[in-house]
Amino acid sequence: MKNKSLVSISDFTKEEILRIVELAAEFEANPNQKLLDGKVVSSLFFEPSTRTRLSFETAINRLGGGIIGFTDSSSSSTSKGESLNDTIKMVSNYSDLIVMRHPLEGSARYASEVSDVPVINAGDGANQHPTQTLLDLYSIYKTQGTLENLNIFLVGDLKYGRTVHSLLMAMSQFNPTFNFISPDSLKMPDEYKLFLDKQGIKYYEHLEFTDIIEESDILYMTRVQRERFSDPIEYEKVKNVYVLRNSMLDNTKDNLRILHPLPRVNEIHTDVDANPKAYYFEQAENGVYARMAIMASILGLK
Ligand code: CP
Repeated sequence: MKNKSLVSISDFTKEEILRIVELAAEFEANPNQKLLDGKVVSSLFFEPSTRTRLSFETAINRLGGGIIGFTDSSSSSTSKGESLNDTIKMVSNYSDLIVMRHPLEGSARYASEVSDVPVINAGDGANQHPTQTLLDLYSIYKTQGTLENLNIFLVGDLKYGRTVHSLLMAMSQFNPTFNFISPDSLKMPDEYKLFLDKQGIKYYEHLEFTDIIEESDILYMTRVQRERFSDPIEYEKVKNVYVLRNSMLDNTKDNLRILHPLPRVNEIHTDVDANPKAYYFEQAENGVYARMAIMASILGLK
């Protein structure tokens, strides 16, 4: 994977995904390896972020690298009308690697085509969030001891939630059974269901968030993505449609872990936080180790 951009999770083979999981464990055991000494990473966030940006920055700092970039496009020359093409060409002259979040679907692929250095997609619109997926896979592996044959429930905004799109594609390499729980207006898009059909992966769709979660190994909750709705009334109709409460976990499996890419709004009640099955804060910490592994691999340092 040396010098390869990471735009979609499908850019990585199953072996490459497993290598990242293995390396993330190595970095968790020994996080202060100065492999990025002398390297500069650009961190270009055209859209807000807490975890992705800060965990990348933590990972770069722990690896001894330098960081340049912006956290808001209004502080860059984008606000003066500079094109993405020109911004990326400039930044690729200044750095060894570009990490970019952008609201437009396809922007990361475009950036990777015009850049002279590898580009890591830190989220492009409702499309993909592959580094989130790799930290999700690391979290699943750590908590389940395997990625194979798991029963995975994806809950909430399956239409606009880019993390579930990337997770579905990656996990499909490990023979999962998927259960999709969403309101009708936020169902998993057909292109992803067709993808599963072609892979022969089983999936079931539900409108109700009921005791079916008792079968779950991984319960992956998601936020309804308010920023992707063109009509605020449509958002109001679905914003609190599923709320996970601690009492709903009574009969769930011992190995169940609750994941959420965060930020949460109301979809996980705070009374779940103290339940040992709640794993979303540890999941976010795993992002540092997974992103160390991704950057070290792409730069050919591991
Ligand atoms: N999970 C995630 O992408 O969070 P941020 O939007 O805070 O980066």
